[in-house]
Order: sequence, then structure tokens, then C-alpha cells
Amino acid sequence: MSTTLCEKVVREGREFVRVPKGLANVIIDQTTISGVDPEGKETIYRGYLISDIGKHASFEEAAYLILYGELPCEEELKEFSKKLNSERWIPTKLIDALKTVPITHPMYYGAFGVLLLGMYDPDPDDMSRDALYDRAIRIIAKLPVIFANGWYLSRYGNEIKPDQSLRHAGDVLRMILGGGIVPGDIEVRAFESSLVLYMDHGFNASTFTNRVIASTLSDMYSAVAGAIGALKGPLHGGANQRALEMMLEIGEPEKARAYVEEKLKRKEKVMGFGHRVYKVHDPRTDVLREWLSKLAEYNPEARKFLAMIDELEKAMWELKRIPSNVDLYTAALYHVLGIPKDLYTPIFAIARVVGWTAHYIEQVTHNRIIRPKEEYVGPTGFKYMPIEERCRR
Ligand code: SDX
Repeated sequence: MSTTLCEKVVREGREFVRVPKGLANVIIDQTTISGVDPEGKETIYRGYLISDIGKHASFEEAAYLILYGELPCEEELKEFSKKLNSERWIPTKLIDALKTVPITHPMYYGAFGVLLLGMYDPDPDDMSRDALYDRAIRIIAKLPVIFANGWYLSRYGNEIKPDQSLRHAGDVLRMILGGGIVPGDIEVRAFESSLVLYMDHGFNASTFTNRVIASTLSDMYSAVAGAIGALKGPLHGGANQRALEMMLEIGEPEKARAYVEEKLKRKEKVMGFGHRVYKVHDPRTDVLREWLSKLAEYNPEARKFLAMIDELEKAMWELKRIPSNVDLYTAALYHVLGIPKDLYTPIFAIARVVGWTAHYIEQVTHNRIIRPKEEYVGPTGFKYMPIEERCRR
């Protein structure tokens, strides 16, 4: 495949453009939701720096911004929060279905549950503006309940009931931790900040998957289920769980460099490092570092994992000039919060579903089906032969 940015080729008497594998550095469409600034330093959420929103906004404020394009005023925020909380439940039929799922990777529960939600939607193909936004809020509110119940029903047989009196992030963390007590304020705010930072990120693989499905005018549930499948991959959303597994395997911060050297020698990827867009620094890590430092004031595990991150970053920068990414920090934060590691990527989905649903709405509102052109390089000129004449190899 070509490595140059793009080159014109003529096929079937028509002009085409050949682009690098993985669509690296290819601008495929425009969006007003989020994207990296021209200098490649910051991600912008609807005009605001992601680090600014990540640091200060609640989940509800940030979700409103991503969905509607502006930060809500008092009344709008109250209305939106009430609607989001009122939708944070799932039908008994969905609970019953989740009682049948096996112990497996919980990302499956999310895709399964979203598609079941679609089955119960009386008109999943209603593309009116109100229907699209109602559906988006419904999926955003219900996805954490689906993940939490898939996990705790399959492993412990107990149903996790949402508490609609709590704000979204606090209740999500409570459910993810098993549905008992609400963690402390700093823990909830740190968790909420990670959800805001995960909420959207330009045309990343799962969002682009979601837009491809939207471009066929398929329904929002199918687009979200497809996006969950893309996010599950270890090169994308699955990296936060693997980054934690890596840091647990290393054990002590002073062993980090030797581990990195070994991985690089074997030409293996170090999880939580590298990015298609950020080649020097992922700004989201700054906000998460602040939260981890706050927790480190009284939590020795937070202190240890910050030291581990420092050693890993130093080694990867010296040896490969590759920066850490958001997933290294969420891995450390979720570990310190006591979250089961298999639930790290579902948490990413619980946040990113805001971006997916906003991109779905943007795509169907200004749509053209996404259908690139292949370059067929296989054999030609074969003729069908009866089986008795075939396979005389
Ligand atoms: C997310 O797209 C988004 O916005 C994603 C995300 C979001 O918010 O949606 O930011 C979330 O997915 C963050 C990334 C999480 N993934 C990981 O941490 C997994 C490890 N990272 C890599 O697999 C990789 O860095 C990617 C997939 C993130 C980016 O891949 P690219 O842009 O295709 O880069 P590449 O694989 O072509 O690597 C370029 C070079 C290669 O070396 P050479 O073959 O040229 O010698 O850098 C090396 C790679 O081997 N490299 C790494 C590395 N990442 C890149 N080497 C070791 N460890 C790594 N992590």
C-alpha cells in the first residue's frame, strides 16, 4: 500500500485517489463536534479545549455540549439532567436476557444490550430531530445499567439497580463498583472527569465505524453496537485494561524501563502509548495526572501508580519518542478506584456513547453513504470448471 499522503490513479477510465493504509492522515469529512486543532496539540469540544471541559464540566454539562453544540444554561441543565436520570433504568425483559449471558468480556454485554433496546423501540428508524435526541439520551442513560447488570448478574447473580437521585457519574461509579455505597467526592469527580475526557475524539476508529453505519441510514442502536465492537479492540479502547495488566505485571516502578526495553526489542506495542494524532503529548493526560496527584495525597496505590507512569513515560520517550495516551492514566485511576479491570473499556464506551450518538445525528443530517473504492489486486481470467476437472493439484 502507498505510504505517500495520496496519489491520483486512473481506473476504469476514471480518476481515483489512493491513500495510506489505515486512512492515516486522511481527512474524510468535516465535523463541528470535536477534533484536533491545526497544530495537533489540543482537542476541541465544540469550541472549548478538551482539557478545560475535562477539568471543570460535569458529565451532564459536557454531554449537553457534545450533543447540542453549546454549554447549557441553568434551566437547560436541569431539564437535561432530569431526563437523563429518568432514563437510567432498563426493562425487566432486558434484565432477564442479561441473566442468561455467560461470564465473558463485558463489552459483549454492551453491544447485546443496546441491540435489545433497539428491539423494544417501537420506531427505531424515526429520524425526526426529537426522536434522534430522545434515542441518544435513552442509550446514554441505559448503557451503564446494561454493563453493570451484565457483569454482576453473570458473575454473582445479583441485579444492580440504578439510583436516579444521584448525578449520572456518581451513580455509574456506584453501579460499576457493585451498587453499594457511593464513593467519596474526590473519587466521583476524578471518575466524572475521565468520562468527560473520554466523551469524544474526532474520527477515532469507533466513531468512524458508527458514522459508516449511520451513513447507510441504519438505526442508532445498530450504529452504537458496531462502535462498541470497534472500541473493544486492544489498539483502541481495549488498551486501558491492557495498560493496567501491563503495570501489574511490571510490579514496581523501578522495573518499568527493563520491561519497556524488552517489549521494544520484541517489536511489541507498549499499551497506553502512541497515538495516530498526538505525536508529542495527549492533553487529556494532564487533567488525569492532576486527579491522580490529588488521590496520591492520601492513597499510597495512587502514589505508586503515578511513579510507575513517570518511569514508563521516561523510558518510552527516551527510547522511541512516543508519548503516553489517555488510556495509561485511566488505567491507573480506575485501578486506584477499585474498579474491576475488565470494566475499564466498558467505562470508555459509557462515556464515548455521547460522542457516538452526536456523530450519528450529524452524519444522518448531512449524509452521503460512506463507500470507498477498493483496489483489486487478485487474479483475473479464471473460468468455472466442473468439480471432476478441478483440484487436480
Ligand atoms: C485510543 O484515535 C483516537 O483518537 C483513539 C483514542 C480516542 O480517544 O478515541 O485516543 C483512544 O485508542 C488511544 C490509543 C490506545 N491504544 C494503545 O495504547 C495501544 C498501543 N498504541 C498503538 O497500537 C498505536 O500507537 C496506535 C494504534 C494508538 C496508533 O497507531 P498508528 O498511528 O497506526 O501508529 P503505528 O502503529 O503505525 O506506529 C508508528 C510507529 C511504529 O514503529 P515502526 O514500525 O515505524 O518502527 O510507532 C511504533 C510502531 O511500532 N509504535 C509503538 C507504539 N505505538 C506506535 N511502539 C511501541 N509501543 C507503542 N504503543
